[in-house]
Amino acid sequence: KFEELGQTPPMGWNSWNTFQTKIDEPLLKEMVDAYIASGMRDAGYTYFVLDDGWMAMDRDNNGNLVADPKKFPNGMKEFADYVHSKGLKFGIYNCAGTKTCAGYPGTHGYEYQDARLYASWGVDYLKFDWCNTDSINARDAYTTMSKAIRAAGRPMIFSLCEWGNHQPWLWAKNVGQLWRTTSDIHAGFDKDLSNGSWSSYSVMHILDLQNPIRQYAGPGHWNDPDMLEVGNGMTYSEDKAHFSLWCMLAAPLIAGNDLRKMSEQTKAILTNKEVIAVDQDSLGVQGFKYYSFDGLEIYVKPLKDNSLAICFLNRSSRQQNIYFDWKEHTLVDAIAKLDIDFGKTNYSLRDLWTKKNIGTTQHAFKQIIGAHDAVMLKLSKQ
Ligand code: DGJ
Repeated sequence: KFEELGQTPPMGWNSWNTFQTKIDEPLLKEMVDAYIASGMRDAGYTYFVLDDGWMAMDRDNNGNLVADPKKFPNGMKEFADYVHSKGLKFGIYNCAGTKTCAGYPGTHGYEYQDARLYASWGVDYLKFDWCNTDSINARDAYTTMSKAIRAAGRPMIFSLCEWGNHQPWLWAKNVGQLWRTTSDIHAGFDKDLSNGSWSSYSVMHILDLQNPIRQYAGPGHWNDPDMLEVGNGMTYSEDKAHFSLWCMLAAPLIAGNDLRKMSEQTKAILTNKEVIAVDQDSLGVQGFKYYSFDGLEIYVKPLKDNSLAICFLNRSSRQQNIYFDWKEHTLVDAIAKLDIDFGKTNYSLRDLWTKKNIGTTQHAFKQIIGAHDAVMLKLSKQ
């Protein structure tokens, strides 16, 4: 049902971050199989999403989109059936403009026809991009496509991808289930910032843009800081920090690595169920930055049953000492509806990466944290 879509942040895999437009049926079937074999499905990932590059360059004589016959010789319905046969949901991509970013036919003017076609293929998720949109109004274009999907009758997650330029958090709550908030992520330095520190990495830059818009996220309508780059070239600790923070933000978790060639470390990050549970918590509150000093930051996310997730992030390029005396802190935040005095309430602590119980908030938390790393704790009320 439409109303039930995206009550927790969508989880899945998308072809773009590793393969761009170089996708075809044999490769993607291997990816589906690896998705299952790696334990991703069992960890909660559900969607398998094709990004740009799946189409033929022209619509057919009836104006319908067609899958590239070389890449998908058996057509898109057959591929969608394969994805469904493995217990996954199927996602596809198009663009609000006249052409997609990679130059394939866009949906502008064909919204209802394309939505019907996707429904006939069994599409469960549509990512809708924003290239070649010169004279198009963003809010109108995304609203039209949203209505077209509803008219086609098959519930589909609708993922807005206009990169935050038109502040979709202000108007898209009832248009789609998630909206991109920034330009594209990549696993390294941000093109636009180059002071050479971890703070100028794409992942950190995107992170910093999420805090001011956190009040707009919630069940059924999420801020999307873009897909994951875990396993795509950063170090183990950087990947761990990236994944931890995306979970703290209640971000959609859309992996973008080659699932056939995952290291054990990458797999352990992407399938850590206790960390994923923080992302998927039913309260659906986006975590926020509580503290920042000298490259060390603390993020807080309230969870159901009066528990909390706390993430320490070391942005600096040197090891640091965490010393956090709970009893000296109160966590008060109106948006997250938090009002905690650790001097009055005791919590037990669990480290979600080492998977160990590590005492209570009665004692100060002391730990060494490496460069570009994160420590993630779950606090449960005693
Ligand atoms: C821009 C989007 O932001 C990316 O995620 C990807 O979908 C590309 N377009 C595809 O061309």
